[in-house]
Amino acid sequence: MTGDDHVLIFDTTLRDGEQSPGCSMTQPEKLRVAKALAELGVDVIEAGFPAASRGDFDSVQAVAREVQGPVIAALARCAREDIEIAARAIAPAAHGRLHVFLATSAIHREFKLGMAREEIVRRAVQGVQWAREHCADVEFSPEDASRTELDFLAEVVEAVIAAGATTINIPDTVGYTVPDEFAEVFRYLRKHVRGIDKARLSVHCHDDLGLAVANSLSAVLNGARQVECTINGIGERAGNCALEEVVMALKTRQQHFGCRTNINTTRLYPTSRLVSSITGVAVPRNKAIVGENAFAHESGIHQHGMLKNAQTYEIMRPEDVGLTRSSLVLGKHSGRHALRERVKSLGFELDETELNRVFEGFKALADRKKELFDGDIEALVLNAEGHESGPWTLSAFEAALASGVASTAAVTLQHVDGRQLMMRATGDGPVDAAYKAVEAATGVKVIVRKFEVRALTVGEDAQGETVVYVEHAGRSYRGAAVSTNIVEASVNALLEVINRIELAQRNAARQLAAAGDAPVAP
Ligand code: KIV
Ligand code: ZN
Repeated sequence: MTGDDHVLIFDTTLRDGEQSPGCSMTQPEKLRVAKALAELGVDVIEAGFPAASRGDFDSVQAVAREVQGPVIAALARCAREDIEIAARAIAPAAHGRLHVFLATSAIHREFKLGMAREEIVRRAVQGVQWAREHCADVEFSPEDASRTELDFLAEVVEAVIAAGATTINIPDTVGYTVPDEFAEVFRYLRKHVRGIDKARLSVHCHDDLGLAVANSLSAVLNGARQVECTINGIGERAGNCALEEVVMALKTRQQHFGCRTNINTTRLYPTSRLVSSITGVAVPRNKAIVGENAFAHESGIHQHGMLKNAQTYEIMRPEDVGLTRSSLVLGKHSGRHALRERVKSLGFELDETELNRVFEGFKALADRKKELFDGDIEALVLNAEGHESGPWTLSAFEAALASGVASTAAVTLQHVDGRQLMMRATGDGPVDAAYKAVEAATGVKVIVRKFEVRALTVGEDAQGETVVYVEHAGRSYRGAAVSTNIVEASVNALLEVINRIELAQRNAARQLAAAGDAPVAP
């Protein structure tokens, strides 16, 4: 099914992206990302792997229920139970897709599955048939396709198309292939598979050799009409093909590729910032398209050329990817209207309540900081959007440090139930001391596994973002917060986690009580 010039963008940020270490998201966070992806104009959202856990199932179902526009896909192994669970999860979607997969390469057949070629073909066909019982839109992926013998790959693909697969996705699961070799895989399949025109060819690349985008584009040149990718290229190991890069390559080199996508490219930058802020995975400065330096010109010769004609050194305009930097700096005298305009020009749509929340934060920040840059405004918006506050909030804190002696910190916390607690503690530095005081006040003990601080803007009064990764009762959590004061940001990042733990405990107690086993906490 080539001939048409439309390349579908299949986003798997919520599945392949989310399953990589450090990228996990809560259900409300997944919903926010899914809605942003719909606004971006992706054709398909792979919302998760419902058989993996109850949480995954619930998130896929919530996305299927609440996100309009894109096809909502769910992943499943070629096992009846997996497929039935996935089918239930996508049932509320106006248009759902079941994506079934089975490894086909010799190394996976021998060491992972212990199956002969015939068994693989039989199971793949069976998986597609089961999926078709629930859904007309079925995608099949021969996992590790790029390391599969071509004749066998063709045999599997032919069999699953005959069984009803409507999309055939060719994954480079381990990021091993190179563009001309991968081109040959697509040419081979198009030449040797009977019925290949009945299915849409898709590509799914990992970035272990830094070739995911190049390999995906090579597939497009050779007939792929769906690209699977993630925002900021997050994903297993070195990541997946970066959506923003592949989309801008197709757009900027339209004459070369002769293809188009449905993506509203002015949403690329805000979506990238959203995913980065939710996952805590920073976008490298020099990252193509959405990195901070992607449109910055430092060299005098370049700047001179740019002033004469931007096209001397610029192949894309920053505004095409949603980057609309302004030299106008906001400060404490700026009003709601100026803030609204700036928020809009940064690509965010806020309703009145959200704008009010951001405006409150803006005023508080402007009291502490002379000039507010775009990075400050972005941080305020991303922090305010979808952030529930409480049950614990930080009312006040103080910290003292001096060389050679332990630091002390005092925190005053407010609970929604009316309690106000002040605790003092000593520790190895002000953050450690403050964390001990927070643990003592809330009664929640955590093990801090990782702690990151980075500046979001420039200058001595720049805002810093703290991201903390902790463990509690065998589960991992991540919290993040922003402030011009690093101790304050650190305490708020920890409180975000503690609030989540407390809410989860309360929910669990409620469920038990509903089952008649225990008293309910208020
Ligand atoms: O990388 C891979 O092979 C996958 C498949 C499940 C499509 O993610
Ligand atoms: Zn993958």
